[in-house]
Amino acid sequence: MHIPLDHQDKTQPLYQQIAAFLRQRILSGSLAPGNRLPAARRLAADLGVNRITVESAYDELQADGLVTARQGSGTYVLAPPPLPPLPQADPGAPWPLWQQEVQGRAAPLKRPAPDELLRAAAHPQPLNFAGGVGDASLFPVDDLRRAIQTVLRRDGVAALEYGERRGYGPLRGTIAQVLASQGLALSRENILVTAGSQQALALVVQTLLKPGEAIVVENPTYAGALDLFRLYGLRIVGLPVDEDGMQVEKLEKLLQQHHPRLIYTIPNFHNPTGACLSLPRRRQLVALADRYNVPILEDDYVGDLRYDGRPLPALKALDSGGRVIYASTFSKVLLPGLRVGFLAAEGPVYDCLVESKRVHDLTTSNLYQRALEAYVTVGRYQAHLNRSCLAYRKRRDAMQAALAGRLPGRVSYLLPQGGLFLWLRIDGVAEAFSTDGLLPLACQHGVAFAPGSSFYPQGCDGSRYLRLNFTLYPPETIFEGIRRLGEAIRAGA
Ligand SMILES: Cc1ncc(COP(=O)(O)O)c(C=O)c1O
Repeated sequence: MHIPLDHQDKTQPLYQQIAAFLRQRILSGSLAPGNRLPAARRLAADLGVNRITVESAYDELQADGLVTARQGSGTYVLAPPPLPPLPQADPGAPWPLWQQEVQGRAAPLKRPAPDELLRAAAHPQPLNFAGGVGDASLFPVDDLRRAIQTVLRRDGVAALEYGERRGYGPLRGTIAQVLASQGLALSRENILVTAGSQQALALVVQTLLKPGEAIVVENPTYAGALDLFRLYGLRIVGLPVDEDGMQVEKLEKLLQQHHPRLIYTIPNFHNPTGACLSLPRRRQLVALADRYNVPILEDDYVGDLRYDGRPLPALKALDSGGRVIYASTFSKVLLPGLRVGFLAAEGPVYDCLVESKRVHDLTTSNLYQRALEAYVTVGRYQAHLNRSCLAYRKRRDAMQAALAGRLPGRVSYLLPQGGLFLWLRIDGVAEAFSTDGLLPLACQHGVAFAPGSSFYPQGCDGSRYLRLNFTLYPPETIFEGIRRLGEAIRAGA
């Protein structure tokens, strides 16, 4: 039997090292009950130690009840003693101290969960307009299955190894080409594939900000970003949004007052308002960020889903000097469960982001990246995008038609030129009206939405707003959903 021994170890004498090795073997079952241990003299010779050393180890195991010595026959392994019973669960007992210390930390991150409320209401035909992705029934599942099969046939086990830390090279190349066609002068060396764009946001925040530092965001903004910034203990400074996006005219004052370390913005089909940042504001934003030495994180989560109008240049396309970090995702147009997004950056920050990604999760799924590359390269992505845009445009228009005169009070919203959402403001109903209060009632009527409070750093500012995802259902179902919403508002008024 070979037992690795460390003769230099001052903390554990040799007999204890031998006993520890055998104990582990017995408890793990690799030395089964009834097995005979080697004779002490033999083992001592094998290990180059004194016989007494081995006998002391055996004595220790015997004292633990793990072996028994039979006179004239040898030392035999016994069945390990049963584990002591776990302490009885006492429902009244306090949590261990370390649990008490983290108690309440999740509370600021908790938000109304429309899907849970809808489930609890047990309506026979629930309609959920709260979601943040496109219609799952349009997702190209068969195409993806074929792409995965192609990749496994073509690449074999290479597709199942960890893969490059920056992401699968050909996929980065494809992404860079697509971005280049949109005026972003980048190569694959500037792309980092991430686990969805949520991870891209997290990596940027971890790399550039420390707790207590300020970040400028649109007010309102994507709830998942707010949660992330809260989790990192950042000071969230909101800038109002109108039909031309973030009110950049008000930015300079905030930069002087708060000295933020990052500006986070969603310039295309902003979540939740649907607004697009106008070209003059885009230019002004990049110029101000440069003057005040603040990086911009541009979250282009649905830039491809445009139904009307002409695309505007990305902030990153207006920046020639590494001021903007660009993030995007395949989640919204394609499949959120793939968890493939990416960021584009250059200079020292790119290296920091690559290392941060490696430290956090080594790399994004190699198989899915390869499948995605195979899918995009044969032109399927573009075809799917065109189909989705056609369907979603009709649904947006259907929701606009459904809203006309169907809700009580005064309803105002901006008709977005793309994306997923209509952002409604409801006035002229009861003084105490709030969309947080409306949500459970609406769920009882079989319809859910995302309440405005989720999107504001100060939740109460959103009490008159709600977000509807118009891409999820065909037009007739959208009409039914808006009818139910109207009923719920009336019932609560
Ligand atoms: C504006 C915005 N950015 C980023 C994300 C993150 O998406 P994912 O991590 O699936 O790419 C979302 C998801 O809803 C979003 O709405």
